[in-house]
Amino acid sequence: HHSDKGTYRHYMLKEIYEQPQAIQRTLEDRIQANHRIQPHAFGTQAPDIFEKIKHIQIIACGTSYHAGYVARYWFESIAGISCNVEVASEYRYRQSVLPENTLFVTISQSGETADTLAALREAKKKGIFASLCICNVPTSTLVRESDLAFITHAGPEIGVASTKAFTTQLVALMLLVVSVAKVRGLELAREQQIVQQLQSLPVILDSVLAMDKAIERIAEEFGEKHHTLFLGRGAHYPVAMEGALKLKEISYIHAEAYPAGELKHGPLALVDHDMPVVAVAPNNDLIDKLKSNLQEVRARAGELYVFADSKVHITPEIGLKVFAMPSVSDDIAPIVYTVPLQLLSYHVAVIRGTDVDQPRNLAKSVTVE
Ligand code: G6P
Repeated sequence: HHSDKGTYRHYMLKEIYEQPQAIQRTLEDRIQANHRIQPHAFGTQAPDIFEKIKHIQIIACGTSYHAGYVARYWFESIAGISCNVEVASEYRYRQSVLPENTLFVTISQSGETADTLAALREAKKKGIFASLCICNVPTSTLVRESDLAFITHAGPEIGVASTKAFTTQLVALMLLVVSVAKVRGLELAREQQIVQQLQSLPVILDSVLAMDKAIERIAEEFGEKHHTLFLGRGAHYPVAMEGALKLKEISYIHAEAYPAGELKHGPLALVDHDMPVVAVAPNNDLIDKLKSNLQEVRARAGELYVFADSKVHITPEIGLKVFAMPSVSDDIAPIVYTVPLQLLSYHVAVIRGTDVDQPRNLAKSVTVE
């Protein structure tokens, strides 16, 4: 391995802690002094291509798919462009209809995932308008085969469970969303506002990392559990999906994510004292709806663990633990709320004594179908 664990017990923990710098590096050289995105951050042809696109199709696998899922909300709300997202293994074998002038966006840490590459090749055969990849490995096949490439500067990621690659993908995707939005009339002040928020992430994430000990203390309560439910709404639904994926990958506890509004349509039947429910509660338009979802869980004796914006009033009580998160805008909240869920999975896995960096049956890069 090129890197060293240093004082960290596992690569995964080291990589979780590297996120502030990884994000800083990913932003470097992509932002101008006036908080505007470099026009050529996605390549010299990018502005011409962005001018003509009418639809976005995102394709990825695993954690990278969850990054794409978050970005789908951003593309539609910030850039006003329609966006679909799908896992590569489904997309590649399906008779799909590609809308005119689609930008085909692939996301991959390694750039070597077999299904993602195959989906891109399949789409090219059908004739896509342009392809763009977000990738952590500049020399990868995916980068070579895409029209445009944006390299995340997360640095080598050794832990099989992806952490810093995911948060840097989200930063890259937000830069892409804003770059596309600009040619569609996004106001200068709004661009600068989003860029400044991205630039503030390293400091914000440091404060979230400081919650590590508090999270470690409650991780024990998950040690003997068999199932966990993760809840979120809007762009935080895929954040909940990523939280659930991390927990199953490394702790082997079955975990499932649900958009909180779907609770009544099934998962509520599972809720009891033995199934912890983890929720992310940023301060946005959906907070009151989320709060009533949480009450539905409490009424069934479900044990709740809520990561909530410090300005949101959720009063802790028996069976309801609240972790105060820094108050951040909705634009960057999905990136911020990802981190405590990574820490939670990590500590639960350590308690269960699993091989955190190399979970059984999983590979860092799935290069065969
Ligand atoms: C494997 C890894 C995951 C990763 C996924 C996609 O399943 O274990 O951590 O998210 O592949 O990999 P990629 O390199 O395409 O992002």
